[in-house]
Amino acid sequence: MRNQTAVQDDNVNRPKGIQRTRRLPDPVLGALWDSIILDDALKSQLLSQAVLNFTLRGKVDRSVLPLHGTILLVGPPGTGKTSLARGLAHRTAESFNGSVFRLLEVEPHTLTSSAMGKTQRAVSELFSQSIAEAAVGGPTIVLLDEVETLAADRSKLSLEANPIDIHRATDAVLVQLDILAEQHPNLLFLATSNFPQAVDSAFISRCDRVVHIPLPDRSACARILKDCLTGLGRIYPSIGQLPSSPQFERCAAECVGLDGRTIRKMVATALASSPQTAMNPERVTITDLLAAARVAKASRTQGGKTA
Ligand SMILES: Nc1ncnc2c1ncn2[C@@H]1O[C@H](COP(=O)(O)OP(=O)(O)O)[C@@H](O)[C@H]1O
Ligand SMILES: [Mg+2]
Repeated sequence: MRNQTAVQDDNVNRPKGIQRTRRLPDPVLGALWDSIILDDALKSQLLSQAVLNFTLRGKVDRSVLPLHGTILLVGPPGTGKTSLARGLAHRTAESFNGSVFRLLEVEPHTLTSSAMGKTQRAVSELFSQSIAEAAVGGPTIVLLDEVETLAADRSKLSLEANPIDIHRATDAVLVQLDILAEQHPNLLFLATSNFPQAVDSAFISRCDRVVHIPLPDRSACARILKDCLTGLGRIYPSIGQLPSSPQFERCAAECVGLDGRTIRKMVATALASSPQTAMNPERVTITDLLAAARVAKASRTQGGKTA
């Protein structure tokens, strides 16, 4: 999936800390949602929680239901969390026929600064100005990708190793989340983390729902592999035939334990199994795929990084 959008995209003069903004619904993000193969029940839970945020929070007092407008997706790297969060933003907007929503993607790394006090200030400005302004303009969804960078677990940060600035940044995020939850019921934060143990517990307790995104099981591995090969098959027809090979199921079984990103990259590794195959990808065989899956699995088992 190329990272592009078919509809209006207003990234000129975007404030610090916002990587991009886009109008929703955006069919490109809908395709992303569909491309992530996950238990339908989990997808439905995510969508329901996000929709409820916009139907209910404007009407029900926070003393009755103390919702913060935050959903956290946690799971191993490469399991589709960022893609799901973007896709969920689209699907949520689409559920409210005709309303224009806006998606702001926060880039936490640009906020952290070595200069004392700067991170805290940047975080406070981002939330109290840029995000609050967007929320005044209409329903807004904010992607806080890899949120452990912004809401680092203060109890695990050593004051010597980590500047006090990071502690203050986490404090600022929590304060701002409380203020925004109070003032802007048409705002939803979608946060992701590969390392939930590094996210501050006060942030997690503010989340209305924490959804664990698992590694794909055997049948999901087969579907991801098939989806990848079928996609390649649109350009290289013989690759599209590989899922019908008798060895395909063995290949899928070999992928169990790998994340979705690694499974797709493993297919690229198979296409690069020799200079001849790289020159002419139609030459790739199911045996090449099996070998690439075994290598990916072995490097995962040895603790090596495959993605
Ligand atoms: N469950 C899945 N089904 C299909 N593709 C997946 C899945 N998980 C990951 N991928 C692939 O991996 C890519 C990276 O996923 P990403 O959303 O960045 O994962 P994360 O944020 O969890 O690290 C996706 O674009 C997709 O191609
Ligand atoms: Mg991610």
